[in-house]
Amino acid sequence: MAASTDVRIIDQRTPQERERPFLPGAGKTWLLPFYDAFTRVGGVRALHERAVELAGIEPGQAVADIGCGTGNLSLAVLAAQPGARVTGLDPDGAALRRAARKARRRGVALTLVQGYADRIPAQDASLDHVVSSLALHHVDDDGRSAFARDALRALRPGGRVTIVDFGGLSSNAEDAGNPTHGHGPAHALRHLPRPMRSRVAHSPVAARDHGDGIVALLAEAGFSDAGEVAHADRRFGRVTFVQATRP
Ligand SMILES: C[S@@+](CC[C@H](N)C(=O)[O-])C[C@H]1O[C@@H](n2cnc3c(N)ncnc32)[C@H](O)[C@@H]1O
Repeated sequence: MAASTDVRIIDQRTPQERERPFLPGAGKTWLLPFYDAFTRVGGVRALHERAVELAGIEPGQAVADIGCGTGNLSLAVLAAQPGARVTGLDPDGAALRRAARKARRRGVALTLVQGYADRIPAQDASLDHVVSSLALHHVDDDGRSAFARDALRALRPGGRVTIVDFGGLSSNAEDAGNPTHGHGPAHALRHLPRPMRSRVAHSPVAARDHGDGIVALLAEAGFSDAGEVAHADRRFGRVTFVQATRP
């Protein structure tokens, strides 16, 4: 049977959600055309490849990529495991259209859903993996807690969540006294060009460094064995890979 190469974008936003603010990938909507170039220079592709390797996705498994933006993590999943069934979720319609164009050029199947991290487009216990890269620092505290609870709902027992984002427990310890590895919004915004950082930091949905927040978030939602599994240093700061299993 020929592999499907269907690429589609579904808008799952409610009328209220259409008014909801979000922090775009490059901080400002007009910077979106430069997002892939910024992140390529920043070495983000290797982070995606490492996240996919850590997730260990098998043929036929269902994967949701939360805050997928221009689709690079989703496409890395499909490059490593062409048999996976991948859905990318993001509130940014323009980023999703870019993701769709790239998927069509590569001839891979990808479902893209316009919506927010707290409402994962999947039936209860239907997903094998939830993955997310550099996105949760764009989501406010209530949204991140709701994301963790919804990931637990959507994953099957034994399903895994794999997240890569700024900060982490070990980076707190190792970076003590190192002024280049501070925490807070300025640190979390290092992937943006310098002139953008202060404007974004004052956004109502300002980006943040989680510290140990992602592990705590997943544990509080009911995931077992939530923990840091790897770290990587990039020009824009240190990132941590966190994984947890749905009991
Ligand atoms: C820095 S980009 C990361 C994009 C992609 N995951 C990557 O690794 O290149 C952050 C993404 O989070 C998205 N985002 C912002 N608020 C969100 C929310 N509440 N729920 C889901 N995604 C959100 C942005 O639109 C943006 O595409």
